[in-house]
Amino acid sequence: MASSKEGTSKSVWSRRNFLVTSMVSTMSATTLLDQSSANAAPAATPEPHSPHPTIINVNGQPYHLALDIRTTLLDALRDHIGLTGSKKGCDHGQCGACTVMVNDRRVLSCLTLVATLEGRNVITIEGLSQADGTLHPMQQAFIDHDAFQCGYCTPGQIVSAVACVKEGHAATDADIREYMSGNLCRCAAYPNIVDAIKQAKAKMKEA
Ligand code: FES
Ligand code: FES
Repeated sequence: MASSKEGTSKSVWSRRNFLVTSMVSTMSATTLLDQSSANAAPAATPEPHSPHPTIINVNGQPYHLALDIRTTLLDALRDHIGLTGSKKGCDHGQCGACTVMVNDRRVLSCLTLVATLEGRNVITIEGLSQADGTLHPMQQAFIDHDAFQCGYCTPGQIVSAVACVKEGHAATDADIREYMSGNLCRCAAYPNIVDAIKQAKAKMKEA
C-alpha cells in the first residue's frame, strides 16, 4: 500500500513538475517573441501607385491618360474618358458586356489594362455610328430585329457582332452562335441577334 501511495504521489509530483516546466518554457518563449517583434522594424507601408502616362486613341480621338497602372480599359473608358456605352456586367471576363475592339480585334475591356494599349486604336459602341448620327448597319439591324429587351448586353453584342462579321465568322447561323457565344444575354434575345447579324452582314458587304 505504502509503495502504491508513494508511486501515486511521485507520478502526481512529476506531472505537476512537467506542467510547471512547460508553462515556464512557453511563457519565456512568448516573452522572447514579444521582445523580438517589439525590436523589429515597423512593417513598410506600401507606396501608393503613381499615375502611369498612356496615350490611346478611342474612336479616332487621342486621349492622354495618367492613371493607376492597375486601371482597366473599361474603367478608363467609363470613369475617366466619359464613354459609358461599354457596360460592366460581371467584371470577370464572363459576360461580354464590356466588349470593345482594339486594332480591329475583340477584347474584353474589363480584363485589359489600359497601360498595355499605348498607341492602340480602341473602338467602342459610341464609335460605330457616323458623325451625322447615321447608325452602323449592325446597330440598325438590332433595332429592325428587336434584338434586345433590357439592352444591357447590347453594346457588347453589337461591337462583338461587327467584329464577328469582319473576321469572316458569320457564314452560317451555327458559326454566328459559336463566335458570339462569349456575349451572354439574360433576356435570351439570341434568335433575334442571329437574324440581326445576318441582315447587317449583307449591308456591311455592300458598304
Ligand atoms: Fe467584362 Fe463581363 S464585364 S466580361
Ligand atoms: Fe437584356 Fe441582353 S437584352 S441582357
